[in-house]
Amino acid sequence: MKGVVFTELFRHVEAQHGADMVDDIIDAAQLPHCGAYTSVGSYPFQEAVALLVALNKATGKPLPEILDGFGMHCFNRWVSYAPHYFTRQRGLFDILEGIDNFHETEVRKLYPDAELPSFLSESRSDRQLVLGYYSCKPLSALAVGVIKGAAAHVGQPVHMACEPAVGDRGAYTRITLTLLDA
Ligand code: HEM
Repeated sequence: MKGVVFTELFRHVEAQHGADMVDDIIDAAQLPHCGAYTSVGSYPFQEAVALLVALNKATGKPLPEILDGFGMHCFNRWVSYAPHYFTRQRGLFDILEGIDNFHETEVRKLYPDAELPSFLSESRSDRQLVLGYYSCKPLSALAVGVIKGAAAHVGQPVHMACEPAVGDRGAYTRITLTLLDA
């Protein structure tokens, strides 16, 4: 996992719970390098799990709720890399149907060895989009948070439901998005 995800997690935790909480979860996670991350470095996913579990223990917040809030934080930070891509004119569904292309072109330029997820559109109507989320990591709650951030940014609130699914490419999470009245 790229270091930028860890540095953003620390920024998010500091904003929510204060700088001491960042130190506390770094201590509790017993990391090999005392929590020093560079944004372009790559680190084991297990370190992120240890930090998230430590945060869950320290705050009592369930992991899906932590990931949801962190996902919204990530979107709000990352949107500044490419504001022209996340516009109201474009709309949420077009943005999400193009996110693999965005990850593979724009994000790859910054982080060539990133382990990026894939979002495949299964069906789309005016009000509903069904997306398959494929990743080697169990981070669908993070994906939901990032999408919530994008939805708020373009002013199109959505209801989201996740369910496990299996297809030609193996196991994935099906995310059904339904537009709510803004
Ligand atoms: C609606 C928009 C987006 C969605 C839904 C999305 C979703 C995700 C998710 C769920 C992950 C976690 C990794 C995984 O699931 O395997 C991820 C990773 C990542 N995304 Fe995105 N993302 C979006 C936009 C962006 C933007 C604008 C950037 C700009 C730089 C970005 C950069 C990254 C990076 C650097 C990673 C980490 C990859 C790694 O650790 O190797 N994403 N994205």
